[in-house]
Amino acid sequence: MKRHRVIAIDGPAGSGKSSTAKHLAEKIGFIYMDTGAMYRSVALAAVKKGIDTNDQDAVGKIADLIEIDMIPDDDGYKFLLNKEDVSMAIREPLIDRLSSLVSSYKVVREKMVDLQRRFALKGDVVAEGRDMGTVVFPHADLKIFLVADLETRAIRRCRQMENSGIQISLDEQVASLSSRDLFDSSRTHSPLKKADDAVEIDTTDMSLNGQVEKVFQLALDKLGLE
Ligand code: DC
Repeated sequence: MKRHRVIAIDGPAGSGKSSTAKHLAEKIGFIYMDTGAMYRSVALAAVKKGIDTNDQDAVGKIADLIEIDMIPDDDGYKFLLNKEDVSMAIREPLIDRLSSLVSSYKVVREKMVDLQRRFALKGDVVAEGRDMGTVVFPHADLKIFLVADLETRAIRRCRQMENSGIQISLDEQVASLSSRDLFDSSRTHSPLKKADDAVEIDTTDMSLNGQVEKVFQLALDKLGLE
């Protein structure tokens, strides 16, 4: 059976992972996988069911029961949770915080990792998250780790949220990102970490086109794409 190729892109929130991964996937004809949206969907499902998000077993059960789909559409991608379009709802500030919390639970991670690996059986993928290169796809064909300074990341997130109709001040965004960075990198299970064999790219002063082009060139070299 042909092994599908994987490009793993990890990094903290606002480092440019989603936009880079999405555009790169489109450019090279790979499937795009946003694993943060999966953890966000678990958090949203728990909130919708009125479950205490500190109750790991209850959240684990939710992760087991939900159905998550990612469908390409005119605006990019649409996320469905149990067939309902939750593309906007999973970007709310409350879900930023709760997705970070529920993603620290071993039981949730095991289920999501299984889902992510099964998703990658569908074809060649560009997968973005926190543990793509370290845990989910340790044998990825190319591993990228994106970083950017905190203020730049906060400005980017504020802009993205504004586009989704959510207003949040720059100070609030800086505080939210730094507490999430700390939590995501210090948790016990699959913390945010650069894989030893990942290429680190600082996107602070790069344009989106520049980021995509840089990763595209690395993909050409590493994967021999045409
Ligand atoms: O990339 P994002 O901001 O949409 O991710 C939301 C949260 O999900 C993030 O705070 C940490 C968690 N996450 C994770 O633990 N592992 C991943 N592979 C992707 C996201």
